[in-house]
Amino acid sequence: MTDADFLGLLPPTAAVTDDGIAIGGVPLATIAERFGTPTYVIDEQSLREQVGAFRDALARRWGAGRIHFASKAFPTTAMYRVMADEGVGVDVAGGGELHLALRAGVDPSTILLHGNAKTDEEISLALEAGVGLVVVDNFDDLERLERRASRRQPVLVRVRPDVAAPTHEAMATGHASSKFGLSIPDARRAIERISRSRHLGLEGLHVHIGSQISDLAPFARAVEALGDLGEFDTYDLGGGLAARYTYADHAPSPDEWVATLTEAARRVLPARARILLEPGRSVVARAGVTLYRVVTVKHGEPTFVAVDGGMGDNLDVSLYGQRFEAAVVTRPFGGAPVDLVGRHCESGDRLVEGARLHDPRPGDLVVVAVTGAYCVTMANNYNGARRPPVVFVRHGAATLRQRRETYDDLASRDV
Ligand code: LLP
Repeated sequence: MTDADFLGLLPPTAAVTDDGIAIGGVPLATIAERFGTPTYVIDEQSLREQVGAFRDALARRWGAGRIHFASKAFPTTAMYRVMADEGVGVDVAGGGELHLALRAGVDPSTILLHGNAKTDEEISLALEAGVGLVVVDNFDDLERLERRASRRQPVLVRVRPDVAAPTHEAMATGHASSKFGLSIPDARRAIERISRSRHLGLEGLHVHIGSQISDLAPFARAVEALGDLGEFDTYDLGGGLAARYTYADHAPSPDEWVATLTEAARRVLPARARILLEPGRSVVARAGVTLYRVVTVKHGEPTFVAVDGGMGDNLDVSLYGQRFEAAVVTRPFGGAPVDLVGRHCESGDRLVEGARLHDPRPGDLVVVAVTGAYCVTMANNYNGARRPPVVFVRHGAATLRQRRETYDDLASRDV
């Protein structure tokens, strides 16, 4: 491991200063002092550059289209505003995300609604708001939409392409036995049904094969599976591009991913069609880090370094076995392997097994890299943990975008 390795996982604005690691021009030690720990830190410049890379790649490689940030990866007001400001749309996975997006001021015509079990309430919310597209997942969805729509609602049909993606089984969605979308024969029936609909306007098709996928070939196969279903105005080719979490990982660039999708589209889809893409993880993952303080070091085989957070703020390790990398903020390089663990009452509450930390001591700040995707949204109150604040850094300034939960918040829903 060379000294540059850990920096290569951090947002591109990261630098090592006399105060240790700084991101967006702000020393992480300053953030810990002002906002406490654990804290999610998002580098706004890296975030904007990354979503811009997707937007520009699509504009360069295809005539008409739009990026819709998969907001489940980070559904907070500040994030919706950045996306709107960068000129991209959003996808929402239900009423909650829709509510947040609308409250943040996202133009409803740039919102796309997903869900394999949308309720009547969610469908009404979406129709009233005038969302640009609703993605039909099943026949009940279709009937529900038809019953509730009073003016033309543009829809896409979600196709299950029978493409297995090499990823964690909980994150694959395109294989034949997935609960999402319609098989090719069922998609044909849905297309036919919508063509006779009074209120639903069939704009096109949607496909999404899963998440954290670093092999590009299955993405192309999924696009090719759409070719036989007819010619449409719009094709939403989903998200799923992997992020690089560890020293050993490789992740294709946004441009390589967009190139794969648009080359496949050129082979089988009409050239005049609009292409939508829904990346989530790959937009936000590297822009985010989580900052912790070491509470205790238990020397032994292995040595356990326990911090003031854990599976309450990062479920990806225990749910999917996701590997992260970490460093001591003031001594980021070198060190021997230790187990970085959380404070929760469960042995599965590990953050990084075999983390190379340089002489970790109680009171040290530890940073875990590449926590920008899905950690905020899957944070929870296990053991009465208070969900951490979200701090955005940019041009040397740190701004609190979501406050830390309080102990009173934990009882705030009690009646
Ligand atoms: N579009 C649809 C329809 C999706 O279901 C998803 C993710 C995306 C787009 C965005 O995929 P991405 O580009 O982020 O890979 N909870 C898991 C992640 C589950 C992803 C679910 N769907 C985690 O913490 O890693």
